[in-house]
Amino acid sequence: MRVAIVGFGVAGAARLSAYRQVPQAEVVAVVDPSAGRRAQASALDPRLRTLPTLADALDGDASGSLGAVDVVDICAPPAFHAPLAEQAMSAGCHVLCEKPVGLDVRETERMVDRSRRTGRLLYPIYNYVYSPMMKVLTQAADSWLDRPLKARFEIRRTTHAVGTPGWQPDWRRDPGVAGGGILLDHGTHCVYMATRLLGGRPEQVACTTVPGPADDDGRSVEESVSARLDFAGGTCEIELSWACDERRNRYSVVGGNGSVLIDDDTFVVETAAGAERGTLRSPTASGTHEEWFPELFTDFVRHVEQPDRWPEPLDQILSTAQIIEAAYTSAADAGRPLRMR
Ligand SMILES: NC(=O)c1ccc[n+]([C@@H]2O[C@H](COP(=O)([O-])OP(=O)(O)OC[C@H]3O[C@@H](n4cnc5c(N)ncnc54)[C@H](O)[C@@H]3O)[C@@H](O)[C@H]2O)c1
Repeated sequence: MRVAIVGFGVAGAARLSAYRQVPQAEVVAVVDPSAGRRAQASALDPRLRTLPTLADALDGDASGSLGAVDVVDICAPPAFHAPLAEQAMSAGCHVLCEKPVGLDVRETERMVDRSRRTGRLLYPIYNYVYSPMMKVLTQAADSWLDRPLKARFEIRRTTHAVGTPGWQPDWRRDPGVAGGGILLDHGTHCVYMATRLLGGRPEQVACTTVPGPADDDGRSVEESVSARLDFAGGTCEIELSWACDERRNRYSVVGGNGSVLIDDDTFVVETAAGAERGTLRSPTASGTHEEWFPELFTDFVRHVEQPDRWPEPLDQILSTAQIIEAAYTSAADAGRPLRMR
């Protein structure tokens, strides 16, 4: 598969490196409006076509020697995901899209609809599914933990993740580019992890948020979040903040037969038989997690080859957007729980 990476910032550069571990794919083009970022891509791989717009990449190169692009891998900031994905699918490409796929439910529905109408796959980069941490939790939840489950995810950061200096490094604080704050940014990972562990959609969502500092125009995004998702099979509490004095990730799941606690790169499994401790293979110190990508890409290829399985990622994209939007609605109503339809 010939791939164009669109958006060559922190995530895009990590993706180019990750594709070296993916035998099914060849990156043929990098698209970025920043000349500096295109130069960076060329320096890393002089064979790449580097282009300022996606339209240029979809046209093919003048000599025809590079042929068309099969897959567009969108690593641009969130506000650009929908227009880029729709353009790529309409041009006949399958799309991998970074999170959050759409900014809200309406935009996400439009993207999913474009996938169905064009017969091109829209597949989310929900890469935490492939993390060693999530594998430990999923294995426990699916086999021995017993329901109801009580999950808790705590993501603590000293600030937002900073993007490449070549563009607008603090876009995560800009509502016009990010579409929201830490709920949309990191919360997206937590929501698809919760639905995977607890099964399906929550029945009820409650959320409160704390706004971050306002910009010169008085606009801000939330920088701390407390959310609770109530599922038929248990609950998930989500605590997120960009305003902590430490960087730390804690994930726990408690069930009838014991518990699993992951604290950064260590885990403790407790059952009636006692406690077992271990270290996870890849600590989550790097923010791009390129080592989780090859497995995700293999699943993407499996889906491309089996269109009858496309409803699964499309439903996951939609339901994640619906849960995030329900959390924003609850937060706007002082955290009042909202029943999901
Ligand atoms: N899944 C993960 O683990 C993970 C980790 C990091 C980032 N991300 C996601 O990746 C995306 C990018 O984040 P980042 O940290 O790399 O940002 P970044 O600021 O480092 O890079 C963004 C790049 O996009 C380019 N760009 C801007 N407008 C564009 C457009 N219209 N078309 C193409 N390129 C454009 C910029 O020039 C810049 O090079 C976001 O959606 C973010 O949520 C995901």
